[in-house]
Amino acid sequence: MNVPVSRYHEIYARWQRDPEGFWDEAASAIDWYEKPKKTFDAGAGIYGRWFAGGSCNTCYNALDRHVLAGRGQQAALIYDSPVTNTKQTFSYGRLLSEVQLLGAMLRDFGVTKGDRVILYMPMVPEAVFAMLACARIGAIHSVVFGGFAAKELATRIDDAKPKVILSASCGMEGARVVPYKPLLDEAIKLAQHKPAACLILQRPQCEAALVEGRDHDWRKTWEHAVNFAKTSECVPVASTDPLYILYTSGTTGIPKGVVRDNGGHMVALKWSMKNFYNIDPGEVWWSGSDVGWVVGHSYIVYGPLLHGCTTVLYEGKPVGTPDAGAFWRVCADHGVVALFTAPTAFRAIRKEDPDAKLLKQYDLSKFRTLFLAGERADPPTIQWAEEVLKVPVIDHWWQTETGWCIAGNPVGLGALPVKYGSACVPMPGYGIDIVDDGNKKVPANKIGSIVVKLPLPPGSLPTLWQQDARMRESYLDEFPGYYKTADAGYKDDDGYVYVMSRTDDIINVAGHRLSTGGMEEVLASHKDVAECAVLGIKDELKGEVPCGFIVLKAGVNRPPGEIEKEIVALVRDKIGPVAAFKLAITVARLPKTRSGKILRGTIKKIADGDEWQMPATIDDPAILEEIKGAMKEKGVGS
Ligand code: COA
Ligand code: AMP
Repeated sequence: MNVPVSRYHEIYARWQRDPEGFWDEAASAIDWYEKPKKTFDAGAGIYGRWFAGGSCNTCYNALDRHVLAGRGQQAALIYDSPVTNTKQTFSYGRLLSEVQLLGAMLRDFGVTKGDRVILYMPMVPEAVFAMLACARIGAIHSVVFGGFAAKELATRIDDAKPKVILSASCGMEGARVVPYKPLLDEAIKLAQHKPAACLILQRPQCEAALVEGRDHDWRKTWEHAVNFAKTSECVPVASTDPLYILYTSGTTGIPKGVVRDNGGHMVALKWSMKNFYNIDPGEVWWSGSDVGWVVGHSYIVYGPLLHGCTTVLYEGKPVGTPDAGAFWRVCADHGVVALFTAPTAFRAIRKEDPDAKLLKQYDLSKFRTLFLAGERADPPTIQWAEEVLKVPVIDHWWQTETGWCIAGNPVGLGALPVKYGSACVPMPGYGIDIVDDGNKKVPANKIGSIVVKLPLPPGSLPTLWQQDARMRESYLDEFPGYYKTADAGYKDDDGYVYVMSRTDDIINVAGHRLSTGGMEEVLASHKDVAECAVLGIKDELKGEVPCGFIVLKAGVNRPPGEIEKEIVALVRDKIGPVAAFKLAITVARLPKTRSGKILRGTIKKIADGDEWQMPATIDDPAILEEIKGAMKEKGVGS
């Protein structure tokens, strides 16, 4: 059998020879009002700006131009919600008219170019309409994941200062109805900045009380817009203008507002759909994520629509809605050709249905490829998926900051041999080096910090929202000439990249990115806590889960179990259920170095049952035995 040769090396070399020529060519797949004056302006922005001087509109490229090109009748969006028993298909024509209407509704609330709009929404079609409507009128959207609590939402409101907030009365977590409105009300109460208006989508599962003068009923406002035949046109924006802000966990409790621009983002995502994912316009693509995460932004909404595909919006879980066959059912029902999700979803399915018996009920003949990202894809999960699905399973590595894949196996250019445990090779645009603390390249197969040569490619963040200094500090200062990914790993002799761990306090819980530093701030705020440490410990399903260690203040006489329960509730209340913080352990002392640094790494190794050695710098070795005992009581560690 002839194995097709991958064009990857040729294409990557082409980019290396002439990066600007490469991206200029890719930019020809986008419709511009005014072509960029410079493909890359090295003197602009923090490390230069892509497509400077160009004028465009992301919504035009995602919708209008497909309708003009004759795709008006083709399905653009399929909403599949087992939790509400709904399936609904929106053609490109219908999606465009919904977005035109919502754009007009936003304009009536005074939203204009450059204004921010926050979306705190479940996985309903209106969330997609809203993102595109903002893009249409040049407003900047900021979607906040529904699993975050009021305080997290308040922090984002104060940073983004939205003119309007769009939300819904509730979300559905399996069979559980999660009222969103009380969280929104509380967040607005906590925030210094107050939005002028909120547009609330009432869902029949739980209607919300509206605040007079501030809240507006989505449906009534929509009916009014329909009756008055309101519409909105695409507003030309600069390629370098922000399309959205997406907050992501940083090393403190204050999240980072990752900015995505219009021009570079479109060019990169459009390029990726064919060249990386091997998807053609008109095909059905499904990203099993949430619009609150970067994967949802790039590959539920923008990537597939820019490419003229049909995208699936799934309001459900991999298991329990109703069973572990849910993903196969969605693929079969809609003729999905490729699915993109996090490995944790497959671990959940495998746990419930290890022999994939439920798969036999469904026709997956159209299904070609499974893509995994969001956390390290463990080889057993990949191998299981390969075995049961009998299609290539592609791990790829990226971050909220980059907006698209840094390293992966580009199926569209011809797949390279899979090496389990590796995210494969760098994509054009990304020059990846592995360096030591002194910014010197380390040899192949040696672990170091993974860094990307500047400039970052189109689509990656130009800066953090109104925080240029934090952008430099967080990503650019430590390794001059590079972007610091804050991931550690190595490259092998073939240039394959292995992403092993974070170099900061970020942990990955069920593919959700969380800061343990942020959780420590919450634990420390409890009146009885003197000291604390939060770390991520291994979890079979979620990859990692947070575990908090607390030392109580002298003189506290309440039962530790009671305080631990309060701590768990406090994290849920302040950060949200998404933190999955369920384990607090009271200890008499925390192990530290002689200079007072908590030995988190050693505690983690003990908790994970990994081999560990007594750190030479430990202040008092006896403390580790105490910690081991406390963990054992809670069933943690070996
Ligand atoms: N609104 C409100 N609550 C939410 C929420 C939302 N949008 N999303 C999650 N939550 C809640 C969950 O209900 C759960 O609450 P609980 O503690 O009361 O059970 C908690 O937040 C933790 O959620 P999660 O970590 O997702 O766990 P889970 O047990 O509900 O589901 C998986 C586990 C593996 C099935 C689930 O994480 C999953 O499907 N992951 C797919 C991958 C994914 O979406 N990755 C994102 C980036 S690609
Ligand atoms: P997020 O910004 O939420 O997408 O999370 C980004 C982080 O998730 C990365 O910095 C990695 O630590 C981790 N990550 C994402 N994809 C992968 C992958 N394929 N392999 C290993 N780690 C990954």
